[in-house]
Parts: sequence; structure tokens; C-alpha cells
Amino acid sequence: MKFFYQNQGPANPIEIKRNFMRASNYPVSSSFWTEFWSEGHTTTFGAQLPANYQGELQAHWRRWAERLKDNELVFDLASGNGALPCLLQSISQGMKVNLYANDIAKIHKLERLTQKGITFYEETDSTQIPLPEGSVNHFVSIFGFEYSEMEPTLSEVKRLLKPGGTFNVICHHSQSKVVTEAHQMSELLKQLLVSNVLNDVRQHTLNKSPDKKQLLDRTITKKIQRLKQDFGSAIQFSGLNQLFKKIYTTQLPEQKIVDEITLYTVQCENQIRRLFHLHSSVLNEDSLESFVSISERLGFKNISGKLVKENNDVIGINLSFSNLLSC
Ligand SMILES: C[S@@+](CC[C@H](N)C(=O)[O-])C[C@H]1O[C@@H](n2cnc3c(N)ncnc32)[C@H](O)[C@@H]1O
Repeated sequence: MKFFYQNQGPANPIEIKRNFMRASNYPVSSSFWTEFWSEGHTTTFGAQLPANYQGELQAHWRRWAERLKDNELVFDLASGNGALPCLLQSISQGMKVNLYANDIAKIHKLERLTQKGITFYEETDSTQIPLPEGSVNHFVSIFGFEYSEMEPTLSEVKRLLKPGGTFNVICHHSQSKVVTEAHQMSELLKQLLVSNVLNDVRQHTLNKSPDKKQLLDRTITKKIQRLKQDFGSAIQFSGLNQLFKKIYTTQLPEQKIVDEITLYTVQCENQIRRLFHLHSSVLNEDSLESFVSISERLGFKNISGKLVKENNDVIGINLSFSNLLSC
């Protein structure tokens, strides 16, 4: 698959600009997830949630885990670096729960999860899980189920769920605050790259002429002010402040500054790809209707979809069903 961005070599701002013009044809792949997980993040929210899920998202799984019984097999779909199995493990301490997970990407330090007793299938699509029929008691997922194709994934769930087994997942929803914020961040990062301000900073570093430096200073200030005007407080989550702090308040050698700018540019590009993937996976009224009709066709019962809220904001949708007990 050909990316519209290539990660090799230093970023070329003109190419970046040109590529953004073709952004509507963004292809989706897993390599940008592999890169993200290789940075060691716990959850998909990266530095914003460094430990693990908190608040209502954590509370949901605490309530859910109360029904767990000893020796049951719980499978987390599209687990990333294993946030949910790790959370479930800490919640269900004292119980013997068999935790399994998959992800289409390569994950960070697989042996770390294996040592904790979690069986992880990396580079494995949720539609093709290498377990025998009827071996799973519970499927769970947090912002993961919706990333794979719905019908083949639900068919795979049907194949693997034991009679009486359950499915309980939290997905991105079109009304969610998380999705709105992700959209804003994606627009901000695109604008940041298109404005060429990172190239101005690079030129500012390399240029020896004080006049030229002063001119570039003014250009950079103007462009950043414009971004602040258009995107307000979102800029504080873009990592730009940290980049500027690093390159302007520490005495880094020229080449190190250029490297930092290149690294940040590549990280922005990857984040845009991940956010694009998020947007193409968000559940809306149509996809929820499909979820219900496919689940009914597969014979699942007690099919339900409930918005997950925190401080009155929608932050996701909780989908669930159960598999019929055999007679
Ligand atoms: C938003 S992240 C969530 C990861 C994790 N559940 C968490 O909350 O930290 C979505 C994950 O879905 C994975 N993914 C995307 N398509 C997939 C597929 N077809 N099968 C399995 N995993 C997939 C990505 O690699 C990524 O790790």
C-alpha cells in the first residue's frame, strides 16, 4: 500500500503541502499504529492518559468485571499496547481470569504482556483470530472493535463465543466529545504543516544573518498567533509548546534542533493518519443500524447500545449482546 506520506528521510515541507492537497484519498494501514505503540504509550490517548483509562471509562470496566467468574477467557479486540487487559487484570486481582488480546499492529515489548500472563496476538486482524470455535467467554474492546470491518468481525465473534458468552465494547460515536476534539486536532495539525511554520523555524536555526533571523522571527510569531486564533486552547495538546521549549530554552546544537523539528513533523503526520483512521471508524446512526441487524442475523440476544457520558458529555457508545445458551 502506498502512503501519501513517507516517513523515511527528513520531511520536505513543499511535499507535505502538496500531499495535503490529496488528503481526501488517505489510505488506511497499520504501520502508523505500530509506530505509535512503539513509543510506549499505554492507551490510544498517549501522553494525555499516561497510566491507563480513568474516570467513567475505567468505572465502566469495574462494573463490568463484577460479573466475571474464575477461569473465564476474556478477549480484548484491537488492544493496542494492552491497556484494557492490564486494567482488567488489576481490577480482578485475586481471580483467575485468562486474558487474551489482538491487534493488527505490532505492539511495544510483547514480552511485557506475556510476563503478566496476557496472551497477545499482534499483527492479527480482528476478523481472523487464531483460537478454536467456542473458546471465548467474553469479548471486550475499548475504541478498537469499530476499527475492523463490522460484519466479518461479528462473524468471528460468533464463531468464537461460547454459548452464554457476552460481547461488551466501547466505541467512538459521532456525537462524542472525543471525536469532536480529534477533528479539531487533526485540522490544527494539517494547518500547522501547511503553514510551513516548522520550515521557518528550521531556517531560523540555520540562518546566520541577524536581519533574516529577525524577519523569520516575525513570520513565525505571526503564524503561531494565527493558529492560536483559529484553534484556541487545542494548541496546548499539539506538542508544539514542548518543541519550542526544547529548541529555544536549551542550548541544543544546530543539527539536534533540525532533527527535533523533523521528528516532530513526522509525529504530526502520523497523528493525522491515526485521527483520519479514527474518523473513518466512528459509529453513526447508519453503522449502528447495521450493528443491530448483523447481530440479530447472527442470532445474538439482548442487543443494546448506550451512550457513555462523563460530565454530561458523550465520550463513546457501549454496545453489548449475549450469545444464546445452547439447549
Ligand atoms: C484507537 S486504537 C485503540 C487501542 C486500544 N484499544 C486502546 O484503547 O488503547 C485502535 C487500534 O485498532 C487497531 N486496529 C485497526 N484495525 C484493526 C483490525 N482490522 N484488526 C485488529 N486491530 C485493528 C489499531 O492498530 C489500533 O491499535
